[in-house]
Amino acid sequence: MARIKKINHVAIAIQDVDASLVFWRDALGLNVDHIEDVPSQKSTVVFLPVGEAEVELVKPTSDDTGVAKFIAEKGGGMHHLCFEVDDISEMLSDLKAKGVRLINEAPVELPGRKMAFVHPKSTGGVLVELYEVTAK
Ligand code: CO
Repeated sequence: MARIKKINHVAIAIQDVDASLVFWRDALGLNVDHIEDVPSQKSTVVFLPVGEAEVELVKPTSDDTGVAKFIAEKGGGMHHLCFEVDDISEMLSDLKAKGVRLINEAPVELPGRKMAFVHPKSTGGVLVELYEVTAK
């Protein structure tokens, strides 16, 4: 059976990078590791390491993404929780066998990682992301 290694990141949907940094960086004192444009996700992401995990502030750069719709509905807030797993394909088939509803039945391959989302209908309302790191 596949194993969860750690929380990789918690993603927060934001409308504005500078306004968000007033709390996350300036008030809390978290360090901004880097800010990255992620065209494949149509978003700008601020990476704030916290121990072995990260807070990711995700600002959509287009109106047609899931995060943009989330912000339109809720104004922003916690968007998803990401677990790093040792074997994502095995994890997805384990979950499927247990009747868990998946958004991605097969892992999506990205540079350095494979990822998939679990449907909030099966998790009590939390969007759960699974990551397998394939390169360091
Ligand atoms: Co994520």
